[in-house]
Amino acid sequence: MKVIITKDYEEASQKACEVMLEVVKNNPKANLGLATGSTPVRLYELMVEDHKTNGTSYKDIKSFNLDEYFGLDQSHPQSYHYFMCQNLFNHVDIDMNNVHVPKGNGDIDEECDAYNKLLAENPIDIQLLGIGSNGHIGFNEPGTDFDSVTHKVDLKQSTIEDNARLFFNGKIEDVPTQAVSMGIANIMQAKKVLLIASGEGKAKAVKGMVEDKKTTDLPASCLQDHEDCILIVDEAAASLLTK
Ligand code: PGA
Repeated sequence: MKVIITKDYEEASQKACEVMLEVVKNNPKANLGLATGSTPVRLYELMVEDHKTNGTSYKDIKSFNLDEYFGLDQSHPQSYHYFMCQNLFNHVDIDMNNVHVPKGNGDIDEECDAYNKLLAENPIDIQLLGIGSNGHIGFNEPGTDFDSVTHKVDLKQSTIEDNARLFFNGKIEDVPTQAVSMGIANIMQAKKVLLIASGEGKAKAVKGMVEDKKTTDLPASCLQDHEDCILIVDEAAASLLTK
């Protein structure tokens, strides 16, 4: 793991943008694994600014999102499909036929199988990740097997509370209790992993991911075994690191 500590969220987002753009510029047909949540919002803004200013093109890029709530149609303003359109896809020249977000409705088992097949056919060049305060990546909650592939998830209460605080206007009862998520094995197959963590709420999870023994109790600790993993962590999120 390569750990880069930045002063704050802005600097973390700028560094992350440099890493993403390097991949896109080196391979205009790259497969990007993308993430939602509050953490990548500024990164996506910077990618949009770069597209508008420097003309970096996404027309041959394919994207594969990590996860989606189950029970929300893609037009629902809190769906991750909607989030991605609002924050990135509507503002760059990506072909929407090349955009893949797991479907949050229909037959969930069929959707998981289809997504696994899609990922097997399209190896991911860079997988962007946030980290949950409980150490989850994607919606792989503590206890998820490291050999898991795309699957249906029952969200932990802490995740429902975190997501109600940041989204859903604070209404816990509106947050879906289930989701579809890429598994840990899918994430580990990405050629490169880029994880951003910001704020002291992430400090405990970051410490566990980087310095403690690898355990399914802290899903992000699986990344200790990834050969090309960059963690961009601001000072607040890095505050419990000792080494
Ligand atoms: P956040 O979520 O970016 O909203 O903090 C990260 C995550 O849960 O993976």
